[in-house]
Amino acid sequence: MRILVCGGAGYIGSHMSLALAECGHTVEVVDDLSTGHAAAVRWGTLHRGDLGDAAFIGPLLRRIQPDAVMHFAARSLVGESVADPALYYRNNVAATLTLLEAMRATVPRPFVFSSTAAVYGEPQCVPIDENHACAPINPYGVTKHTVERALADYWRAYRLPSVSLRYFNAAGAEAQARIGESHAPETHLIPRVLKSALDGGGPLTVFGDDYPTADGTCIRDYVHVEDLCQAHLLALERLCAQPSHEVFNLGNGRGYSVREVLQATAEVVGRPVAHRVGPRRAGDPAVLVADSGRAREILGWRPRRTDLSAIVDSAWRWHRRPAF
Ligand code: UFG
Repeated sequence: MRILVCGGAGYIGSHMSLALAECGHTVEVVDDLSTGHAAAVRWGTLHRGDLGDAAFIGPLLRRIQPDAVMHFAARSLVGESVADPALYYRNNVAATLTLLEAMRATVPRPFVFSSTAAVYGEPQCVPIDENHACAPINPYGVTKHTVERALADYWRAYRLPSVSLRYFNAAGAEAQARIGESHAPETHLIPRVLKSALDGGGPLTVFGDDYPTADGTCIRDYVHVEDLCQAHLLALERLCAQPSHEVFNLGNGRGYSVREVLQATAEVVGRPVAHRVGPRRAGDPAVLVADSGRAREILGWRPRRTDLSAIVDSAWRWHRRPAF
């Protein structure tokens, strides 16, 4: 199939392009390179442009005629979304609606949407399944949830088939370390810990050790980026066989604390990682762990790289290389 990967120059989008190419699909990437890297587009053709520009995306869709669209292009920093919500509503909502309009007009084909655990807001119970109330607590989560709701409505009204995949904490890099996570600024725990281990980032600050967890630090559900990509392939297969609108959580179902990440990293790199304990970061829930039973049952998804050391090890091999 010919798949349009929006945001294919970014972290998860570039891994998805590789996974699609490995399955024999033809990959067309759209990216404005505002946060992605041209060098990460290695398994598809890059079409540089803004998804929010109807004069760009409409003609491109007509020319490429993709069999399906996977949409990763978004701003994804919680803090930034609070400081500059307009950026998030424009990039994550308005641009996605422009893309969907163009698809309705030309190719109403399966649409796989990159969503997030941030749609749930403060968890009322863990593990979190898809029936948990959606009450996002920051503009980032609101914008992703808004698109999810639009997709449900577009399926009912226009029969545009879609799936929303709610990622928990994406981490790791592909086995050969040709691509990996590279954000500027980097806010995520594992790359920050690895930067500290490489001695370039200074000591890591642990954001609070007085949470109601066994070691006092926050617990998160780290899911390997290659496992995420497998879930997308399965979701795409299902959408093609049975068009509908569905929502799936994607996580390991097992949580690890910040201290456990530090410990696993120390084992992988062979030395302790310098760190200090600082105050809590605003808006961090103590525990976020997915119930991904639905993806396992319905999609037959079986995450394979669930061990924290394996996740950190793959990220470490990427971070030791020169950046893009
Ligand atoms: N942390 C530190 N020090 C750091 C960075 C992070 O202690 O330097 C801690 C955080 O406080 C948190 C954990 O490490 O407890 C993980 O933090 P990340 O920033 O890596 O990830 P989040 O859990 O905050 O964010 C993830 C996704 C977001 C999504 C959010 C849902 O990356 O896209 O879950 O709440 F919005």
